[in-house]
Amino acid sequence: MNYSKLTIVLICVFLTGNLYAQERAALINDHVAVFYPDHFQAASHLPSFALVEEPVEQGALPEDWPVKVEFSEAFGKSMAFIKTDLQTSLYGTGESTGPLMKNGSTRVMWNTDNPLYRRDQNLRLYQTHPWVLGVRPDGTAFGVLADNTWRQEISMGEGILFSSDGPAFRVFVIEAETPQKVVQILADLTGKMKMPPLWSLGYQQCRWSYYPDTRVKEIADTFRIKEIPCDVIWMDIHYMDDYKIFTFSPERFPDPENTNAYLHDKGFKSVWMIDPGVGSYSVYDSGTDKDVWVKTKEGENYVGNVWPGPCVFPDFTQEKTQQWWSSLYKDYMAKGVDGVWNDMNEPAVFDGPDFTMPVDNVHLGGKEHPKDIHLRYHNVFGMMMVKASREGILAANPDKRPFVLTRSNYIGGQRYAATWTGDNAACWEHLRMTIPMTLNFGLSGQPFNGPDIGGFEGNATPELFGHWIATGAFFPFCRAHTTEGSDNQEPWAFGPEIEEVSRVALERRYRLLPYYYTLFHQASVDGMPIMRPAFFADLKKPELRREDQIFLVGADLLVVPKWADQPALPGGTWRTISLVGEDSETSTYQPDLKQRGGSIIPLGKVIQNTEEFTNDSITLLVCLDDAMAAKGTMYSDGGDGFEYQDGQYAIDAFTAEKSGDNSVKITCTQMEGKLSDADRYYRVGLVTESGIQYSDWENDGEIEMPLVH
Ligand code: GLC
Repeated sequence: MNYSKLTIVLICVFLTGNLYAQERAALINDHVAVFYPDHFQAASHLPSFALVEEPVEQGALPEDWPVKVEFSEAFGKSMAFIKTDLQTSLYGTGESTGPLMKNGSTRVMWNTDNPLYRRDQNLRLYQTHPWVLGVRPDGTAFGVLADNTWRQEISMGEGILFSSDGPAFRVFVIEAETPQKVVQILADLTGKMKMPPLWSLGYQQCRWSYYPDTRVKEIADTFRIKEIPCDVIWMDIHYMDDYKIFTFSPERFPDPENTNAYLHDKGFKSVWMIDPGVGSYSVYDSGTDKDVWVKTKEGENYVGNVWPGPCVFPDFTQEKTQQWWSSLYKDYMAKGVDGVWNDMNEPAVFDGPDFTMPVDNVHLGGKEHPKDIHLRYHNVFGMMMVKASREGILAANPDKRPFVLTRSNYIGGQRYAATWTGDNAACWEHLRMTIPMTLNFGLSGQPFNGPDIGGFEGNATPELFGHWIATGAFFPFCRAHTTEGSDNQEPWAFGPEIEEVSRVALERRYRLLPYYYTLFHQASVDGMPIMRPAFFADLKKPELRREDQIFLVGADLLVVPKWADQPALPGGTWRTISLVGEDSETSTYQPDLKQRGGSIIPLGKVIQNTEEFTNDSITLLVCLDDAMAAKGTMYSDGGDGFEYQDGQYAIDAFTAEKSGDNSVKITCTQMEGKLSDADRYYRVGLVTESGIQYSDWENDGEIEMPLVH
């Protein structure tokens, strides 16, 4: 086992520090305990940003509770130590570089604008998740959550050490029979992603920046002409008038309503960027009138440089700032904007110390949050921003599900926004890293995330882009993006071969939409990640614990990229499926998709965007297990709006079982919801070793198929 030098130093510091007795440990429920250090200062930590609500204690901790927390203090650091053994596999810590398994590594929790992940040797990125998931050799699992926004480090070796620059903090420990259960309990504590609009599951095309408006229209038209599925076109900072947020450049986007209407007409949605830094113009004036800006320690408005030059920054700890910020979205959304991209919200400050604002800046707080220094609020700046953004967008469009993408966030931030992994590079190393990054995000409570497909910095080669989109098509958040001045990076920009690779990759995703939508719904209900590590399929197989070249989508689909070098595969039956006529065995780019024996995956049609999505005819891919049985479910609703909360949805259950000696019977039953599926046609695709055999379309909820031996 390799320990980083930092881990060894920190563990020594911990052991030589003043060891504190726990002040108190209490049970929250059968699976969750909380540990308080001596000297816990509630005023420096509460109300918690991580938790949905303050948990109610249910009594004393039983003696045999397996995971204990020890607290210590030394050299100005508050520390919490959780002993583990070398055989326990550690994951989580949210957004992090490096392999899936985190044993022997250190992460710094300090939200940082980190282009190419080069700053501070990759130790910190844009987000903070003070959370580690431990999986023991027998498959049982635990998780530890430091309820602490202050700057801290997590060292993972023969133990987990949280070492914070702030006052002594409390730690929650989850204990459960499986890692899946631990992740679900984490979501009970920290909240779930809200059901997103269906369009946000589609493919999204971005660059820094598409402009003027005619270029945006041209990109949209090209997708339709070339019949490459796409749902969203993104507008980066050049759409603004001189980088002033909530404005539109009169030259580049003189009529944003018209641009949005054009896109809508062709079945696209639009997402537009809003950063937190405010230059000098009407938004500055209105914020200044209300006195909403973060202050220096001397009490002046803090000014730092971002895109517009000198900027002030909203102090989201104040309720009036949140309301003011939310209110800015009313007129903005009225221009036909569909989604919002909150960037630079670590916050990034080009000329600030350590690329951000001084840690002794002051946030005034109010009713909800106490007044305190930036060191306390830095890691939740982005989270507070997207919370206020989401509320503003919802108030502007009360009948639509908000979509916000954020670069910075804090654990629990899935309640407000989806995320992407910031400014990666167009290189193989970063393509490979996208898998463990996306997986660990999911294991840390954020299911809706993905990387810049193609890589942000630099120019992707055709080969790299082909592999990236072929694999990225299966990530929860599926968007290509590239930097200013780089080569074109649309699917057709690399020549006919890669154009076709992209088309097939995206058609595969769109066919899987009913399955993805069901997984997004599941994530919104129980917090299960959409993209899951291979070890979820087989908790006792040690080889899988480090496997991060392949991944699961849900529980039933395994994605094996072409570059995966002798990956460890889960045991049991897994059969290769073809979704749009592709042959992944002979393809250079398309990952092998393997369906789990015992599962039923619902498929839709190949469509060009989610507005064309209907679930009146669903193909059920049935992959039988050894007992000749299989099961699956499908969630459906209107795709946007909130009618589903009044029962306007359907959950259908599918079962396959042997019928007589030579056939299998598939039954479709609506289990929940008022949305009728009575008119739906189903056909079965029986997945066999030699391909998929299809039944006829039926609409009486029962299909019988011969078994070919
Ligand atoms: C930041 C973002 C990037 C964006 C750029 C310009 O670097 O991470 O995605 O394109 O700013 O807005």
